Order: sequence, then structure tokens, then C-alpha cells
Amino acid sequence: MRVLLVGATGMLGTEIKRILEPGHEVITASRKGSDVSVDLSDKASIVAMYEKVGKVGAVVCVGGAAKFAPLDSLADDDYAFSLANKLMGQVNLVRCGIGHVDEGGSITLTSGTLAQQPMVGSGAVSIVNAGVEGFVRVAALELQGKLRVNVVSPGWVAETLASMGKDASQGIAAADVAKVYKRAVDETMTGQTLPAAKT
Ligand SMILES: NC(=O)c1ccc[n+]([C@@H]2O[C@H](COP(=O)([O-])OP(=O)(O)OC[C@H]3O[C@@H](n4cnc5c(N)ncnc54)[C@H](OP(=O)(O)O)[C@@H]3O)[C@@H](O)[C@H]2O)c1
Repeated sequence: MRVLLVGATGMLGTEIKRILEPGHEVITASRKGSDVSVDLSDKASIVAMYEKVGKVGAVVCVGGAAKFAPLDSLADDDYAFSLANKLMGQVNLVRCGIGHVDEGGSITLTSGTLAQQPMVGSGAVSIVNAGVEGFVRVAALELQGKLRVNVVSPGWVAETLASMGKDASQGIAAADVAKVYKRAVDETMTGQTLPAAKT
């Protein structure tokens, strides 16, 4: 199957590409360094990406950003950036993907456990993650029988914790998170928020 992987050059994207490639043709996308360039915060760029790539059987998104900062320092622009980027970027990936993803294919988005388990600084990120999960539930309902739509909710990734100088043993390995995305592509679920956190 042809799988369009948005955010392919990142920590999780690299592992997802590795695990998908034996069985699928992976087309990579990000702002730079991929087969096709896309900026999730720009809807026209998403439309152009789909036109360039042609029909795919699945889309996986592990791209997009949201601002992490305490409430007293989150400015209007920080909320606007976060909503336009990781939230509306992924919403528009689904909206614009209709007609470009094969009937019966899938779109898998990314949220994060900060949707349900907030921490100081996650004001904007928690809104975005919860918003993506809410959108996936309704998109799956409306697209039932045409497209499957799911979201993976990673916890802290071990490699990310290590890069921040924190205790990596508290996180889940990126390779284990990638297995959850593979399930969303290969299995039949829809409308699901799939946890991918250290248990
Ligand atoms: N790592 C963790 O611990 C963790 C935990 C929970 C949730 N998550 C979520 O998982 C996702 C991926 O995390 P990660 O750690 O793999 O991130 P990452 O290493 O920073 O990689 C992000 C990827 O997305 C691309 N990207 C960023 N902004 C983009 C945009 N506006 N348009 C298109 N592509 C864009 C980047 O490439 P370019 O910069 O070239 O565009 C890169 O390929 C994020 O949504 C993150 O919030 C991560």
C-alpha cells in the first residue's frame, strides 16, 4: 500500500517509516528534507501535497507543533499558532484527504497524553490534543464505510526524554510507539484514540 507519512523526518516519523517500509511504499512529507514538502499550518500547501502525491491507501501524521508554556506566559499568538498548526493542520489533512485516500483507506493522526493528563505548561498543547481526539471521533462517524480515521496518543517518548536530559526509563521507546501507528494502518479500527504510553 502507498502510505503518505507527514512528519517523517522527526523522532517518531523515523521509527514509523522504518516499521512500515517492509510492507508498504512510504512517501515522506515535512517542511524540509522529505519526498514532498508540506506546511501543515497552510491549507493550500496540504492541497498541493495531495495533488503532487496522487492516490494513497493511508495517511499517517506525526507532524505539527503546539506551544508549551505556563498559562501566565502563553500569549494570544501562542494559542493561535498552536490551533493553526497541530490542530487545524491535522483537521485539514483529513478534510483535504477525502478523494485522495483510497476508499476503505485510513488516516491516522497524533494527539498525546497531555490531553487527559495535563501538566504545568500544557495549556495550549492539551487543548490541541483533546481537539484532535474529538475531531477524529466525529470524522470517523461521518466517513464510516469510506475512510477509517484514528488518532495515536503517545506518552513521553524515551528518546525525547533522553534528549531533554531527563530519565528515559520513564518513557516509551519510539519503536514501540511506531507499532501502534502500524496497527492503525494495517488493522480495521476506526474512531479510536490508541494509547501509546509506558505502562
Ligand atoms: N516525542 C514525544 O515525547 C511525544 C509525546 C507525545 C506526543 N508527541 C507528538 O508526536 C508528534 C511527533 O513528535 P516527534 O517527537 O516525533 O516530533 P519531532 O521529532 O519534532 O518531529 C516533527 C516532525 O514534523 C515535521 N513538522 C513540524 N512542523 C511541521 C509543519 N508545520 N508542517 C509539516 N511538518 C511539520 C518536522 O519536520 P520539519 O521541521 O522539516 O517540518 C518533523 O518531521 C507531535 O505531534 C508531538 O506533539 C510526541
